[in-house]
Amino acid sequence: MAATKREIRDSYDNLGGRLYDLRYGAEQREKYETILAEVEVKQHEIILDNGCGTGLLLEYLSTTTIGLDISSSLLSKALTRIRDKYDKHLIQGDAENLPLRDHVFGRVFAITLLQNTPNKARALEEISRVGHKGTRVVVTALKKAFSEEAFRHIIESAGFMIMNFINDEKLSDTIAILSLKIF
Ligand SMILES: C[S@@+](CC[C@H](N)C(=O)[O-])C[C@H]1O[C@@H](n2cnc3c(N)ncnc32)[C@H](O)[C@@H]1O
Repeated sequence: MAATKREIRDSYDNLGGRLYDLRYGAEQREKYETILAEVEVKQHEIILDNGCGTGLLLEYLSTTTIGLDISSSLLSKALTRIRDKYDKHLIQGDAENLPLRDHVFGRVFAITLLQNTPNKARALEEISRVGHKGTRVVVTALKKAFSEEAFRHIIESAGFMIMNFINDEKLSDTIAILSLKIF
């Protein structure tokens, strides 16, 4: 049986931020470098890092960013990263029910999040809701959890247009760079 949201949250809480970074830090940074070579981040845009974990990606972003995650333990680690940064903010919340207003974000990243959300369509719908027209969305999918075909299907069913699809063999995720079809 698939893990519940609470079980997923508890497993990240039990892992803790220090161990998360040791175990996955290098792997996640490789993904960011590939993504940020493709996606321009403009100064005036507000960014959502959905499922931000320990805030590893926040270190790469030099504009106003909200990091959201369900795990308080990983968010504590993220807090140590953003402490001196006036333009970085953290929220504890659920990607399937984002506690955020409509049409606010110019860029949304959801890196290695989707395997954790029981209702993937709902999580993608929420991303659409908080983005505005022209928003670029980057969603990645763990290769061991999604075939490329299944990933494409989930994305297209959610009403996104695929701008670029990166399947780099050195990365553990497939990367989809998307734009919102509907406002
Ligand atoms: C594999 S980690 C990726 C973290 C981060 N994006 C990175 O690149 O290191 C998955 C993250 O999703 C978070 N997560 C799991 N379910 C979630 C949910 N329903 N809402 C928000 N975050 C969730 C976990 O707490 C964890 O931080």
